[in-house]
Amino acid sequence: MKILGIESSCDETAAAILEDGKIISNIISSQLIHKTFGGVVPELASRAHQKLVSQVVKQALDEAKITKEEIDAIAVTNRPGLVGALLVGVNFAKALSLGLEIPIVGVHHIEGHMHAYFIENPELKPPFLTLVVSGGHTQLVHFKDFGEYELVGQTVDDAAGEAFDKVAKMLGIEFPGGPNVDKKAKNGNPKAYRFPRPMIDSGNFNFSFSGMKTAVRVFLQSLSKIEIEENLEDIAASFQEAVADILVIKSIKAAKELKLNKIVVTGGVAANSRLRSLMFERASKNGIEAMFPKPVFCTDNAAMIAFCGWKLIQKGMKSDLKMTAHPSVSIAQ
Ligand code: KG4
Ligand code: ZN
Repeated sequence: MKILGIESSCDETAAAILEDGKIISNIISSQLIHKTFGGVVPELASRAHQKLVSQVVKQALDEAKITKEEIDAIAVTNRPGLVGALLVGVNFAKALSLGLEIPIVGVHHIEGHMHAYFIENPELKPPFLTLVVSGGHTQLVHFKDFGEYELVGQTVDDAAGEAFDKVAKMLGIEFPGGPNVDKKAKNGNPKAYRFPRPMIDSGNFNFSFSGMKTAVRVFLQSLSKIEIEENLEDIAASFQEAVADILVIKSIKAAKELKLNKIVVTGGVAANSRLRSLMFERASKNGIEAMFPKPVFCTDNAAMIAFCGWKLIQKGMKSDLKMTAHPSVSIAQ
């Protein structure tokens, strides 16, 4: 079975072809237009998706060396995300499904992220704990089985990726913030400054990142512009260390409480080098196996959407042409 996956929930226009669970093409076009504004501008994202979607799908078909008539089904992200952006992918997918007379399935973006590790590791068996860390979400989810999830904890305010992006902006680090903070932090001392670890002893598995942003802002106000520039790498490394520390501590606590010996970390922030090394180190000390998809499958892509759609189709799930985009829907609903 050949599935076309389409993803357009934020600022990546992506398409992938999956054949019987194997990715045979994976095209991601990141919209550079948002760089000028230091963040994603929803209206510009929708317009860019409109321009790019057919081209990206064509590229995915060409790379897979198949024609559109050879596709058996379409999986498309339809929730949650920027509604205008989602609608571009959803409408394109619906038109294609109607024209080709093939089934279509709407995929939850976070459920898609939760399937990213399977792309290269189909032997992984649930149950396990998933930490989904992206620009819009920070959630711990108990992946009991395919389609069976329980929300264990989540951020009560900002997502970890959002904190990376906002702190990057405060530091004058170019958009996209997260990957660039990661780069700067490589030459910095993570112990140079001690930023707070909010909610670390909250007694639940929730997170809070908005206070961290404030802590960094207040700290920066105490420095001159030159001092910030001179210590940029240390500040970036210390902030990154605090975020990674919180995510790792909470994930390991949750895994232990739920008696799960596997943690799969996914979403854009899972590409972070320090989160990866700290999670591997502490998980192994606790007899837990930590797993991360390779970075290209951590950030938004359509391969994870195609894979998740394939699993949904196997379960007999299908959407119809009434399917539409929803800006915010929890994974546990
Ligand atoms: O999953 P994703 O591509 O899109 C959403 O669903 O939000 O995640 C994007 C987020 C952004 O906040 C970006 O700054 C962050 O992931 N990110 C990173 C890294 N790569 C992407 N954050 C820290 N370190 C990275 N290497
Ligand atoms: Zn995402």
